[in-house]
Amino acid sequence: MQVNPLSDVCGAEVVGFDCGGAIDDATFAAVRQAFSDHSVLIFRDQQLTPEQHLAFSKRWGDLNGHILTQYLLPDYPELLAVSNKKNDAGEPLGIEDAGRYWHTDVSYEAVPPMGSLLYGLEVPAEGGDTMFASQYRAYEKLPNDLKERASSLKARHRFNYTQIQASKGSTRKPLTDEQQKQLVGAVHPVVRTHPETGRKALYVNPGFTESLIDVAEDESRTLLDTLFGYATDPAVIYRHSWQVRDLVFWDNRCLMHHATPYPADSIRHMHRTTVAGSVPV
Ligand code: OGA
Ligand code: MN
Repeated sequence: MQVNPLSDVCGAEVVGFDCGGAIDDATFAAVRQAFSDHSVLIFRDQQLTPEQHLAFSKRWGDLNGHILTQYLLPDYPELLAVSNKKNDAGEPLGIEDAGRYWHTDVSYEAVPPMGSLLYGLEVPAEGGDTMFASQYRAYEKLPNDLKERASSLKARHRFNYTQIQASKGSTRKPLTDEQQKQLVGAVHPVVRTHPETGRKALYVNPGFTESLIDVAEDESRTLLDTLFGYATDPAVIYRHSWQVRDLVFWDNRCLMHHATPYPADSIRHMHRTTVAGSVPV
């Protein structure tokens, strides 16, 4: 197994490693160390059945389902389809426009996931990259006064699905009343400490962070926009260009990510698992 860093902010490719094989404890510990060091690991050239994708994901913790149950695989409810493939009725098999904005997965829940493992079964020849932004680096780059202020604040997160669904070209299905009821949102610290590395990371994102708690609306907007500026500074970004059968494992506790568009006549078909996390502190 070889771990090759892909940028100096985050991201490393792991080659010569089979996520679907038997992995002894010492090897797994080395992968865990690489994940701590690089925040996003790209396992190249994986031949994984859904069972193998699930089994490797479960080495990292319990798996979460997803509020958008209509996009979970019927036979594998812990696999979420991110796909523009259509069924016979012309309906997309998965979320076609997943994450086309900066976000961390599911930050709108009280206990957001630690990580996500996205497997590229079919990838377009061009486009459809995923960008990752190190929120350790974003935090480190804040001026001292802003670091202090941010560290004292909490923010409200919410999944504004209706707005995403209404955006141009979205093929997303509406939520049921039951799903709508579950979207209560969550409040999290603006700066969190990573439970494994002990490093501090900015934990607000343009996708789901609505407002700062106990800060007037105008100031909340201005301050969030300032923080988002640091959070998405090109200097903290690694851009991943997919190869078919990449398995990409990212850390939601210290990264944001952003999907980019691809030509409508190409297929992008992926499966995602989501590993449970802990309450951000
Ligand atoms: C996701 C997501 C990004 C992409 O699956 O959580 O944001 O590039 N996907 O598909
Ligand atoms: Mn995402």
